[in-house]
Amino acid sequence: MITQTKLAVFGDPIHQSLSPRIHIEFARQFALDIDYQKVLTPAGTLAEALSIFSSAGGMGANITAPLKQEAFALIPQLSPCARTAGTLNTLKWDPSTQQWFGENTDGQGFLQYLQKYTSIDIAPARVLLLGAGGAARALIDVLEKNVSQPLTVVNRDLEKAQDLKKYPRLELLSYVALNQQIHQTRFDIIINATSSSLHQQLPPLDNAWLKNSIVIDLAYAHGLSTPFMEWALSHHAKSVDDGLGMLVEQAALSFALWFDRMPDSKPVYQQLRSRE
Ligand code: ATR
Repeated sequence: MITQTKLAVFGDPIHQSLSPRIHIEFARQFALDIDYQKVLTPAGTLAEALSIFSSAGGMGANITAPLKQEAFALIPQLSPCARTAGTLNTLKWDPSTQQWFGENTDGQGFLQYLQKYTSIDIAPARVLLLGAGGAARALIDVLEKNVSQPLTVVNRDLEKAQDLKKYPRLELLSYVALNQQIHQTRFDIIINATSSSLHQQLPPLDNAWLKNSIVIDLAYAHGLSTPFMEWALSHHAKSVDDGLGMLVEQAALSFALWFDRMPDSKPVYQQLRSRE
């Protein structure tokens, strides 16, 4: 008997999510039958949504903005990677304990994106990371391990980021404090890990930072540039890219956790790019 595996992505907004398309392509590579739904889940309602999903036979899930840290707080069984990052993006149902197991594939997905689709060498780079939410935290951990220079993180609400002081080398700043340093330093790479592009907004970053920097917006705008990418280009960024590569790579790692098989991600990435 062929069984269908029930999967879903939870977030708000969720209509824009490419995860169902990506996972259906991965499943096709192994002739697996999956049902992958998008579940609109406002902040504060994830516990209820997950309980409904597991009761209906849900076996795996992706968690996206703004729920990554909410998910982390709900799930007791965590991988070491999710535990260190303090955030998660992937859940697998564990039938033996009847509980969800939480993993974070964002950080490794970001590294794989850099290796597979770019020539960027982050090891010696001076990196500025915008945001301190769920998406940013997975990156902070891999950047701390893979970049030799101290990482600078900027967030509007510094209260929410106080626990990042556990990273001794990390410099945590408000946008006002960062913008005051404009004549003293520059960044090779600027990563937008805020959800600003999802809301068609820009973070309050002085545009002079963008000149000659490699700019990566982790958001994806279905073939269009995100507002952040447009802004960076108009202020002479050296290059700009969106989050499609990381999205496909983190998805491949989630798929491998669910099915113990690593899909071939590059053709799926190329297919999505060519349909833009
Ligand atoms: P995600 O899972 O995408 O990280 P999140 O956990 O809700 O979503 O975090 C959203 C992040 O985007 C936060 O760092 C938030 O900054 P604050 O903590 O200061 O609110 C940031 N963010 C959202 N909109 C932003 C904007 N217009 N400008 C700057 N930062 C923004």
